[in-house]
Amino acid sequence: MKQRSIANFPVGAIGLGGMPMSIEGRPDTERSIATIVAALDAGVTLIDTADAYHIHADEVGHNESLIAQAVASWNGDASQILIATKGGHLRPGDGSWQVNGDPAYLKSAAEASLKRLGVDALGLYQFHRPDPKVPYADSVGAIRDLLDEGKIRFAGISNANPEQIRQAQEILGGRLASVQNQFSPAFRSSAPELQLCDELGIAFLPYSPLGGIGKAGQLGDTFAKFAEVANNHGVSPQQVALAWELAQSPQVIPIPGASRPESIRDSAAAAELELSADELLALG
Ligand SMILES: NC(=O)c1ccc[n+]([C@@H]2O[C@H](COP(=O)([O-])OP(=O)(O)OC[C@H]3O[C@@H](n4cnc5c(N)ncnc54)[C@H](OP(=O)(O)O)[C@@H]3O)[C@@H](O)[C@H]2O)c1
Repeated sequence: MKQRSIANFPVGAIGLGGMPMSIEGRPDTERSIATIVAALDAGVTLIDTADAYHIHADEVGHNESLIAQAVASWNGDASQILIATKGGHLRPGDGSWQVNGDPAYLKSAAEASLKRLGVDALGLYQFHRPDPKVPYADSVGAIRDLLDEGKIRFAGISNANPEQIRQAQEILGGRLASVQNQFSPAFRSSAPELQLCDELGIAFLPYSPLGGIGKAGQLGDTFAKFAEVANNHGVSPQQVALAWELAQSPQVIPIPGASRPESIRDSAAAAELELSADELLALG
């Protein structure tokens, strides 16, 4: 697969989002492991997860554990895999998503992720979402401390605006490796953050890059231009969406979610799909 990079770490241009394998509607463990292994076999080396990808209150880290299990069962070179996890969101078990950006909480969450993933340092640790009750500088300060202590290899933020990106970059002393925001044909309002990451040389990880769970399958019905370009290339509209995202900047590394091997195999092929300047213009 074509490569991009997060800081100085090369990763396949298409990553895998783990969320559909652990939240409401998730498949059984066997299918999830098969999906993660299919991604690795297809050349995916960036896997995105979070401690909050679970359903019940007593299974925090469900998705991290699945990924650890799948990677351990894979017969390829695991040193090339970058597992990107997150802290700062909680799911109490009633279907809701809550936030906690308290520095002490973030540090304890990172310790728990380290144990579940069975590593000495987390590959990429991302502050999941700003907590309005905690100064942003304090939350990002916890991520800086984890970086300084060697508990995380690379630092990232998610759901951040341009001001927060600049602030995080300053607090981290220029070591902000990635920004993960929602970006897809259906959701383009993170374009300013994408542009800023391009300027600053920070990886930009579009999340819900196909429009999100439950909507991704209909991408071609909703966006006729994407379906038309897909027809011309004999590929899926989802591949065209991912290739269009990749074309926005060399910093972009989409992380399409999957709960079936076929989905991630199809998405992974988008790394090799070249769209013409005319096609990109038509897609907007
Ligand atoms: N930072 C945040 O706050 C945040 C928020 C949301 C998501 N995320 C991350 O971003 C990742 C991706 O977002 P998402 O999972 O919400 O949405 P998404 O990637 O837009 O859509 C996921 C769905 O797309 C389907 N799919 C994948 N590839 C396909 C293909 N080639 N053709 C047809 N359908 C395809 C999958 O179906 P199957 O399930 O049938 O395989 C899956 O259910 C998540 O998994 C998570 O890691 C982060």
